[in-house]
Amino acid sequence: MSKKFSVDVLIIGGGLAGLSAALRLADTVKIAIISKGELTESASLYAQGGIAAVLDEEDSITKHIEDTLNAGGGLCKKDVVEAVVSRGPKNIQWLIEQGVLFTRESGEDGYGCYHLTREGGHSRRRVIHAADATGKAVEMTLGEKVKQHKNITVFEDHIVVDLITNAKMGQTGNQCRGAYILERSTGKVHSFASRCVVLATGGANKVYLYTTNPDVSTGDGIAMAWRAGCRVANMEFIQFHPTCLYHPKAKTFLMSEAIRGEGGKLRLPNGARFMEEFDPRAELAPRDVVARAIDNEMKCLGIENVLLDISHKPAEFIRSHFPNIYARCLEYGYDMTKDPVPVVPAAHYTCGGVITDINGRTDIDGLYAIGETACTGLHGANRLASNSLLECLVFSEAASNDILKNLPNYSLTKNIHDWDESRVTNSDEEVVVSHNWDELRRFMWDYVGIVRTNKRLERAKSRVDLLQREIDDYYGNFRVTNDLLELRNLAQVADMIIRCAMQRHESRGLHYTLDYPDMKDEHSPDTILVPDNYSVDTAISA
Ligand code: FAD
Ligand code: SIN
Repeated sequence: MSKKFSVDVLIIGGGLAGLSAALRLADTVKIAIISKGELTESASLYAQGGIAAVLDEEDSITKHIEDTLNAGGGLCKKDVVEAVVSRGPKNIQWLIEQGVLFTRESGEDGYGCYHLTREGGHSRRRVIHAADATGKAVEMTLGEKVKQHKNITVFEDHIVVDLITNAKMGQTGNQCRGAYILERSTGKVHSFASRCVVLATGGANKVYLYTTNPDVSTGDGIAMAWRAGCRVANMEFIQFHPTCLYHPKAKTFLMSEAIRGEGGKLRLPNGARFMEEFDPRAELAPRDVVARAIDNEMKCLGIENVLLDISHKPAEFIRSHFPNIYARCLEYGYDMTKDPVPVVPAAHYTCGGVITDINGRTDIDGLYAIGETACTGLHGANRLASNSLLECLVFSEAASNDILKNLPNYSLTKNIHDWDESRVTNSDEEVVVSHNWDELRRFMWDYVGIVRTNKRLERAKSRVDLLQREIDDYYGNFRVTNDLLELRNLAQVADMIIRCAMQRHESRGLHYTLDYPDMKDEHSPDTILVPDNYSVDTAISA
């Protein structure tokens, strides 16, 4: 039986953005939080390096702002960068108050005692971390608190199908009124009415064959917001992390940038270093530079991987700084204290997304987007390492404050109709979904990857058009399943990535094309996609 639920705020996503928003709101209003798998299964859970914030006397807000702007390739919104960076310290304090145990330098209290690591693009040590498993420490602590809170109901193993707006209900106005949600174990689609909805669904990096991201990162929030009428921007800026473990059995395992921050070197199979030929900052150049350099070496030399080597450091240092990475590498037969480890770049972070203002508001009233699913203006054309968990925290706080202020203006509807299954049947051709899923991820890797060309983008576009037609046809005829929903969303975001890439006739930040290898001007506009059902009446100023 399909069911109907009503809550004040519906939060979609159990990563850092969703969990922290839930905890900030729950003392005042009733929350439902939805997660595709277990509550904490998310990109946040796998974060290694840490969270960037100004916590040291030697550092300053100005320097963190400068580093963020430099990485962002002229596309960051300065007011957003200033707001996020300056709210960093208080948000780290909030996490500490929630009980997150960060790695300490010594046993004393206060920031002075927390160990700060360094990552590419940062001019100072400013990344607070919990050894090399920061995401796990954060997610486990907040996840537990969310589960214990009396005002929060957790729906695990549920996937949101689509948002419900006035237009979807055949009414005037442009407010988000809830969502249709598939319970994966029963196949039933339930309706959730809410006064407002927070999209905290993470990135879209599963659109690529090789990625550091978990299976849940299929761009659902971006695709749903687009279908509902929100503008989406800067999807061409996909960040490829330079160092993902290369081993046939390691599906996705990141070798943290903090390894290079603590002195790790990149080497070719013959042992030679190569990064200095590409950038004076060598291994600590921003990620786009390092990933392109590795890609270049792999293509020129016909090699399958390069090597990451920190074996010159004392074994005890390596084991204590990187206990989880060390243990995982050992499982695959590599001892980091003695040998270099094979690595390759992989899709890691979606800089673009649903356009929001400084409070996480989207173009639809009552619909907020926070975390990786949003395009806030913080990252511009390239995200500075460890700025994304910071963004999750700062925007969950801003959105929660905005929601509490505006909730009286958002009404709860009783008129949501049941999910209509009268014209669909069970699929007899699941192979269409698995085939298209594989095809999509492979051509995105081959044609829309680290180095692009006009021809490759055109090839990708004609393939994604065909796939989208097939998927729409399939969606119209068969009952929804988790895989079909994810495929439909992946195809939608793939189309957006390709269209944004086609519109940018220059190389900037993470978008590099052989046809336009230079940056046009110092400043350049965002690549904004506008859906047919966009309503200018409720649009935020972007
Ligand atoms: P996520 O953490 O991805 O959470 C998304 C949630 O939404 C999940 O619970 C998922 O189930 C749910 N969801 C998605 N779609 C639906 C749907 N349709 N229905 C229901 N639920 C849905 N950043 C840093 O700043 N520092 C780091 O050290 C760092 N290390 C990283 C290491 C790895 C391996 C990876 C993959 C990323 C790393 N990042 C790091 C990036 C950072 O982890 C992410 O950008 C950030 O965690 C995103 O958080 P989020 O809450 O927006 O989304
Ligand atoms: C890492 O630990 O290398 C990931 C950091 C990030 O993505 O910000």
